[in-house]
Amino acid sequence: MQTQATTRQEQAARAGIVWIKLAVLYLLIGVALGIAMGASRDFTLRPVHAHVNLLGWTTLALSGIIYTLFPQAGTTRLARVHFWLLNLALPVMMGSLAYVLSTGDASVVAMLVIAEITAAISIVALAANIFMNLQVSKDVAGECQPDKKAAAA
Ligand code: HEM
Repeated sequence: MQTQATTRQEQAARAGIVWIKLAVLYLLIGVALGIAMGASRDFTLRPVHAHVNLLGWTTLALSGIIYTLFPQAGTTRLARVHFWLLNLALPVMMGSLAYVLSTGDASVVAMLVIAEITAAISIVALAANIFMNLQVSKDVAGECQPDKKAAAA
């Protein structure tokens, strides 16, 4: 029978895989945009490239790794809030930023600002989750003391 800690580790690892797969999608888009900018010598979308790579690839991948390493943080409501707010906000933020930069049409700036604020709130959820819930899980703590276990056997 699975222990509660094992179930939580599995749950966190599954969520971590989703974070990392989404991160790689952003990396593919970010790199493609970088190559397109270099090839065309048109750097208008440089801020989009930087944010797709840093907020998309780097932040999502790091979140997935952190939440897998620390299941007690990876399975909280704050982790879910972080996931949904960031993943809903980021495509809207990148799409509207790309539109404003490439057309000069400011009609979607309000949408861009709302998406940016939502992404910022998701980062506050990440920070709160890390400060409140990052701790060594009981299972891992047990594995850190092999000598005591061996001595008892
Ligand atoms: C094959 C992959 C990549 C290519 C071809 C590429 C290409 C470029 C190009 C052409 C620029 C504009 C340089 C200029 O203005 O003179 C740039 C800027 C930048 N790139 Fe990349 N890039 C790649 C990957 C990445 C990755 C993985 C990251 C971050 C994790 C990143 C972050 C940035 C940042 C922060 C800037 C500066 C943006 C700014 O000054 O506003 N790039 N990249």
